[in-house]
Amino acid sequence: MSDKGLPALVCENVTMRFGGLTAVSEFNLVVPEGALFGLIGPNGAGKTTVFNIVSGVLHPSAGSVKLFGDDISGFSPDRIAHRGIARTFQNIRLFRNLTVLDNVLVGLHVRREANLAEALLALPRHRAEEARMASTATQLLRDVGLEDFSSYRASALPYGQQRRLEIARALATGPRVLLLDEPAAGMNPAETEDLMRLITDIRERFDLTILLIEHEMKVVMGICERMTVLDHGETIAEGTPAEIQCNERVIKAYLGGGVVAEN
Ligand SMILES: Nc1ncnc2c1ncn2[C@@H]1O[C@H](COP(=O)(O)OP(=O)(O)OP(=O)(O)O)[C@@H](O)[C@H]1O
Ligand SMILES: [Mg+2]
Repeated sequence: MSDKGLPALVCENVTMRFGGLTAVSEFNLVVPEGALFGLIGPNGAGKTTVFNIVSGVLHPSAGSVKLFGDDISGFSPDRIAHRGIARTFQNIRLFRNLTVLDNVLVGLHVRREANLAEALLALPRHRAEEARMASTATQLLRDVGLEDFSSYRASALPYGQQRRLEIARALATGPRVLLLDEPAAGMNPAETEDLMRLITDIRERFDLTILLIEHEMKVVMGICERMTVLDHGETIAEGTPAEIQCNERVIKAYLGGGVVAEN
């Protein structure tokens, strides 16, 4: 592909204003292809707003977002999903009344080939594709350790497993860049350990670039190579876990507040 060597994701001077509030200010980010990159900071720092901008839910007041060199600022969420960015949500957004398998099938739908007429007539190509999609969805559930729950209602899964299902659904869209918004929230220590393994594992297996928002420092410091720290919409630091952990500004704004002491 001609985009070889280009960073997977670039934010250039991205600003997001909500009325009088500047939630994100002149935000800059360069995430190299294949990186596992962290985005951290206190509550209300602007982290989810950055994800909303990158995934097209919000259009920035100023600045641009580039995916492998292509400017995608202002694109709709659908178009951005087609271009290869998938995400999970801080507040889990599953189809609660659908089965676990159907939730993944919804994700696969994004890259489906058969057109509506074929689907209605149930032409052989369509039937073959349906069978293929079901087998891909089952494999994705195996990848995230949910294969035994495929016929459960999504709402019947414990919290930690719902988060894994969201990851499977995001993977189903065939992303090159995956945005994870607080995937460890609500998980117990054992689930968190498993999640860390899952994230590093899917990066390799699916050739992903991953941007991770997380308050659980064990996760961020344990698996991210680099991270950016936001506070009140401003970037206050960027660096490796070792650099961030001893950064005075970060300790004062965020880590000093007992976050590190918990681990
Ligand atoms: N759609 C919106 N309309 C108005 N204000 C918003 C909107 N989205 C976010 N904000 C505000 O922007 C600021 C940043 O919010 P954001 O959700 O990005 O923070 P965050 O870093 O993800 O915090 P948390 O760690 O609590 O999830 C907050 O003050 C929030 O209230
Ligand atoms: Mg958030």
